[in-house]
Amino acid sequence: MKKSFATLVVAAVMLVGCGRGDGRLTKVSLDGEYAHKVDSVLKLMTLDEKIGQMNQYSCDALVTGPATRDEDKVQQIIDGRIGSMLNLIGAQKTREAQEFAMQSRLQIPLVFGLDVIHGMRTVYPLPLAEAASFDLDLIQRTAAGAAREAASQGIHWTFAPMVDIARDARWGRVMEGAGEDTWWGSRVAEARVHGFQGDDLSDTGTVMACVKHFAAYGAGIAGKDYNTVDMSDVTLHEIYLPPYEAGAKAGAATFMNSFNDINGIPATANEYIQRTLLKGDWGFRGFTVSDWGSIGEVVNHRYVADLKGAAEAAVLAGSDMDMESRAYVAHLKELVEDGTVPMEYIDDAVRRILLKKFELGLFDDPFRYCDEEREANTVLSPELRALSREAGDRSIVLLKNSSVLPLAEKPGTIALIGGLADSKADMIGFWANQGNIPAVVTVREGLEMRYPSSHILYAPGYDFESGMKTHEGEHLAQPVNPAKIAEAKAVASKADVVIVAVGERGDWSGESKSRADISVPADHQLLVQELKKTGKPVIVLVMCGRPVTFGDMEPSADAIVLTWWLGTEAGNAIADVLSGDYNPSGRLPITFPRVTGQCPIYYNHKSTGRPENDSWQYITSYTDVDYTPAYPFGFGLSYTTFEISEPKLEKSVFGMDEQIKAVVTVSNTGSVAGRETVQLYVRDEVASMTRNVKDLRGIVQVDLQPGESRDVEFVIGRDDLGFYNQKLEFITEPGEFTLMAGSNSRDVKGTKFTLE
Ligand code: BGC
Repeated sequence: MKKSFATLVVAAVMLVGCGRGDGRLTKVSLDGEYAHKVDSVLKLMTLDEKIGQMNQYSCDALVTGPATRDEDKVQQIIDGRIGSMLNLIGAQKTREAQEFAMQSRLQIPLVFGLDVIHGMRTVYPLPLAEAASFDLDLIQRTAAGAAREAASQGIHWTFAPMVDIARDARWGRVMEGAGEDTWWGSRVAEARVHGFQGDDLSDTGTVMACVKHFAAYGAGIAGKDYNTVDMSDVTLHEIYLPPYEAGAKAGAATFMNSFNDINGIPATANEYIQRTLLKGDWGFRGFTVSDWGSIGEVVNHRYVADLKGAAEAAVLAGSDMDMESRAYVAHLKELVEDGTVPMEYIDDAVRRILLKKFELGLFDDPFRYCDEEREANTVLSPELRALSREAGDRSIVLLKNSSVLPLAEKPGTIALIGGLADSKADMIGFWANQGNIPAVVTVREGLEMRYPSSHILYAPGYDFESGMKTHEGEHLAQPVNPAKIAEAKAVASKADVVIVAVGERGDWSGESKSRADISVPADHQLLVQELKKTGKPVIVLVMCGRPVTFGDMEPSADAIVLTWWLGTEAGNAIADVLSGDYNPSGRLPITFPRVTGQCPIYYNHKSTGRPENDSWQYITSYTDVDYTPAYPFGFGLSYTTFEISEPKLEKSVFGMDEQIKAVVTVSNTGSVAGRETVQLYVRDEVASMTRNVKDLRGIVQVDLQPGESRDVEFVIGRDDLGFYNQKLEFITEPGEFTLMAGSNSRDVKGTKFTLE
């Protein structure tokens, strides 16, 4: 049946729930500096030119050089039919494309977008890894570094940060976000937006951020990419939406909608999400871009019959720019001319896009980002490399250590095993397409530089090309490559210590990389077990872009160091931690399950009527695996030990609007200096809606010398204690609460208080 979205919008259906908005056009308010300028350009534009601004193409690196032979795209730029291009990189190439735009009637500059997800040529740790640093200042600085390098290459706009909450490690794009926690994800969203954009979009060292994927893309059923999202409105508002809202309020210039449908309405055609919330309630003054082809995919969702219907649905719902569906260029004109889409919808979208082009300074000088000298001085600069190494150090999480780490200053002969330890390409991981691979420092190179006098023996240990042979829960009768394992054992037996790199290859986590079995490959597990038989201490480096399960190898590892994929300086950062030059301080931003079957698993679940416990069979659990995770959210070891007190409050009863100050004493009880991340959780003991067992509400990082203690203060208020009720009102109820402090979500000490 043909739906008329215009009718729906005009009817202004006041229903809570996804998809149906409140019928507001949600016009951008242009009372700022550029109001007059934007409108004066808009007045000159034909309908075709307006639609052109709403059209984005990928350049396929074709616009210049051979691209000049792509007569069609070049001519379309000249005709004002393209407002933005993605994937065109370099000061010179972007200049050449911009020159075509300057041949257009109104000389409206192009805006160049690119996925600068965790670096440009200099690659930083994966966003998920960096979230493990729990260091917002660092996260902001790497975003700023990535922006500087990208902007020097002619880029105005990154399609980042991805702020999708991810509770299911099977989903490959877990690597691209900040993990499972809403509070932490919101803080990281703010830091990344501030880092990319700085204080001033016209600064040629910054780029526009794009908060994505709006909304709830991380909640696809069964961890499958692009899959259906079906959840209660309460969960959507409480768990999934806050990081997007935080990104919007931090001033993100743009938003990208998502491939998934939410409770029956494709996000791209979702008016409630894009208009009522984003452009209405959250006051967003930027523009939205579709995900790649997502307007066209509204047809595949079988929500509309054809591309024309998709264009209508998307534009009315508030999708301003069409990335690569070619739906707007093909159909918007007709839809406006036959009255289906009111012109004011087009005008609002174009105003939003023009506003950002003005704010970027492109109307003053369309070539201001095309400076080849700046590009040469910025790309892979020593300063950016140093930042990458610092980020690498702080992102590593020490999961297990039976006193084998740090290595001795003179560790003797080191057996370094595993193809991943000698691979540059794998270290940059997914979504680092522009990363300079020859510049990457491997683990082998990092160790050789750190221990020049040590003998470092190397063996690959497994078939690098053996692919994803994961056999969770199965014991392989035969090693995948017995010769390689035998060679590795022979090398190990000549050494004093064994370091073995296992895990995922660099492209095993990422877009369209969902896995039904997230275990470390079976041959890697077997290798670790065999190496242990040499009697040498075995240090396992786990490389991955998502939580993985360790299976049988765990007991054979004397130490487990989660290195993720750390980017350009991976090998140096890993050597920093193994040597103790940097005392590991990373904490898990996402739960690591024991087996894939526990997914989705996350710390802030509900109690249920039969809460998990050890003394009864009929609880919310499985019969074949413990209900606890392998490693809980927030977990990470150090080369020192810390003690964290319960939160101390000045009184036990607080008024509803009072600030609640909690003091926590943290002490370094070990023998070396270290950094602890003190975590504060809250729990509403009894409420009119079932509540999570705990929720993170604050972290404080402290650097402490051995024997040093410090008091850290947390301040929380009523919003930290509230929740959405069934009417979708955010409320805080009086009653009893527990505040918990600890070094991870499991090991906490609590204090109760009452809210009146
Ligand atoms: C991804 C987006 C990305 C876009 C452009 C899509 O497939 O989902 O995250 O920004 O491609 O490369």
